[in-house]
Amino acid sequence: MVVGIYPGSFDPVTLGHLDLIKRSAKMVDTLIVGVLNNKKKVPVFTEEEKKSMIELVTKDIPNVQVEVFEGLLVDFARIKKAGVIIRGLRAVSDFEYELQMTQLNRQLEKSLDNIFLTASLEYTYLSSSAVREIASYHGDISSMVPAQIIDLVEEKYKKK
Ligand code: PNS
Repeated sequence: MVVGIYPGSFDPVTLGHLDLIKRSAKMVDTLIVGVLNNKKKVPVFTEEEKKSMIELVTKDIPNVQVEVFEGLLVDFARIKKAGVIIRGLRAVSDFEYELQMTQLNRQLEKSLDNIFLTASLEYTYLSSSAVREIASYHGDISSMVPAQIIDLVEEKYKKK
């Protein structure tokens, strides 16, 4: 049984994330989407909001579970008996950070391996931060996030 973790901030989940979830779910027996608040970023959505949005958009993929975690990714991976971490690469600029994180994680846990998936071409421009900025100005995010969560994201910025 191969358990994979796809960790991230998902603030909010985008079509690019969903594409990676669908593709990586085919490579492992169980895919755990690990949601956390990255300490380097100020989140707009709570962890529970992010979790329920991902659950909503992945409900038809049977081997996907969504969990909130805190602390080190390697500790979460150990608890979940995961052998592989999955991350997406949109551009060369992502690579430096991802490589450093991977090397650090492998330093902490030698048995943990990594799969990097290149983002599908149509999503290479996409990021959660771009979605947040566009939504904050009430722009059209319908080509950026899954249809099921458009209202939820827009609603967040109506309240602000
Ligand atoms: O979507 P993001 O914000 O790029 O995801 C980054 C994330 C959550 C994968 C990364 O910040 C992380 O793994 N955080 C957990 C803390 C940790 O393990 N840090 C040590 C590795 S640098």
